[in-house]
Amino acid sequence: MLREASLGLAGVVIIAYVIEFLVSHLDDPREPRRVPPRIPVIGHILGFLRHGFDYYNLASQNTDAEIYTVGIMNLKVYVTHATRLTHMIQRSKTLSFGPFLQLSSKVHGNVSDEAHALFNGDLLEDFSLRTREALAPGPHLDAQNLRMADQSLIEVTDMLKQGEIQLLEWARHAVVQATGAGLYGVQHPFKDPEIEDAMWIWDEHRPGHMIGIDPLGKGYNARAKVFETFREYFQNMPDDVSLIIRQRQKILRDGGICEEDAYKMQSTLSDAAYPNTVPTLFWTVYEIYSRPELLEAIRQEIFSKAVRKSDEGFILDVAALKTECHILLSAYQETQRTRHSQVAFRMVVEDTLLDGQYLLKKGNYLHMPAKPIHENPKIWGPQASVFDPYRFVPAVAGESRAKILPSSFLPWGAPPHMCPARQFASTEILIITALLALRVNLTPASAKGWEREPAVKSMDIPTLPRPRKDVRLKVTAREEGAGIWAIIIGESKTRVSLASG
Ligand code: HEM
Repeated sequence: MLREASLGLAGVVIIAYVIEFLVSHLDDPREPRRVPPRIPVIGHILGFLRHGFDYYNLASQNTDAEIYTVGIMNLKVYVTHATRLTHMIQRSKTLSFGPFLQLSSKVHGNVSDEAHALFNGDLLEDFSLRTREALAPGPHLDAQNLRMADQSLIEVTDMLKQGEIQLLEWARHAVVQATGAGLYGVQHPFKDPEIEDAMWIWDEHRPGHMIGIDPLGKGYNARAKVFETFREYFQNMPDDVSLIIRQRQKILRDGGICEEDAYKMQSTLSDAAYPNTVPTLFWTVYEIYSRPELLEAIRQEIFSKAVRKSDEGFILDVAALKTECHILLSAYQETQRTRHSQVAFRMVVEDTLLDGQYLLKKGNYLHMPAKPIHENPKIWGPQASVFDPYRFVPAVAGESRAKILPSSFLPWGAPPHMCPARQFASTEILIITALLALRVNLTPASAKGWEREPAVKSMDIPTLPRPRKDVRLKVTAREEGAGIWAIIIGESKTRVSLASG
């Protein structure tokens, strides 16, 4: 019996090797070479299940190639972390992000086949272009920022009424409320706690929805609740809606998308907005508060550069916060550099000869994992793997520092195609972190103190993975920050000086 089982197993292994060999020999010789999995046929799948996107780090250790193929039978993912190539990829029209937006509207937005077909070509390009324009610095973004900032202030003030918080849970609520107010107006759809909950339940089920799995329908039911609220919202859009939401609605409707499909498409923006901002805020606060000296330096910097006294308390000047608080901005970006674990995605929409030598075949995917770039000592120096909160602080006169190229810092995607909301999201994270630093003491409720490397969810979809376990913190008010706080937005043209551009 044992002998038959061994023979059977050997047969399966031999067949798997033969399949792997044959499939790889069907590739065009100009395609990037395949990195063979340890276990033929299923090895890469097992690798992804075990390590998530970190699997690319392991796979790339088996090759010196600047671009390679991770193939599972006929499905090919071309992978590169060579900044020389990522730059060309981002500029290519045939290596596109568009199909994922289309797919998101179908899978997550559940739009009709007509809308899916229409949301293509010029309409899709116009939609992305107007989104970028509406989120660029200017008076419309100031108005959006002010609503977001006022709500952030409310959230931090509310935190002070609690003796203890769970940091991730608090960040989830604060970000949805602040971002929601910025995007949709003060009376936004997620003001209702039931709809905020429904949005997060939907979010948890999104990976399953990608492959049609939601056996109890919990995610679909939650999504239906969000859709219903968005239907009512778009029938009666408030005056304080942001330009991005107004523009997107106009483009969709002018492009022939019916009312129902338009509000469903609009509701999928929550997929991009909240799940990325929440862990970025969580880790920024975590990294700063777990280093008392850094926290003190940031408190002094913000207080001296971006805070004014008023009759009743203090005013936070957001323009100064964005442009003059270099240590805060540096610690935030170092958090992104060291914790980012995502890959930038593209789809090959036409056969493409990249750099005149690598053939990428239509219908396959292209992934650009950021981690190997963010951890590369040739780019970041011998201390690349160390968290250095001062790494992004601009050099002072007479000091020589290697310039950080935008193509080396990828939490927003690789230039020139990046997250259109990076100024908005960064402003939000800086405001909330600054208000916390100035007004609140946060210390771990557990006697163990701050853990240096808490476990994270390796299969997470957001750009920064979430911690496996939430962190319980004691909250006390800082005497130095006692008083009434207000926020001013300041000069319209100011930008957060992000290393990504
Ligand atoms: C810290 C927070 C955020 C991070 C790290 C982040 C990151 C990203 C990344 C990596 C991409 C893909 C870019 C590419 O590969 O070309 C992206 C796309 C996008 N993000 Fe963000 N994002 C954040 C917050 C937001 C927010 C708050 C919004 C909405 C207000 C938003 C809206 C979008 C949209 C609409 C796209 C698709 C762009 C397109 O049309 O091509 N993001 N984001």
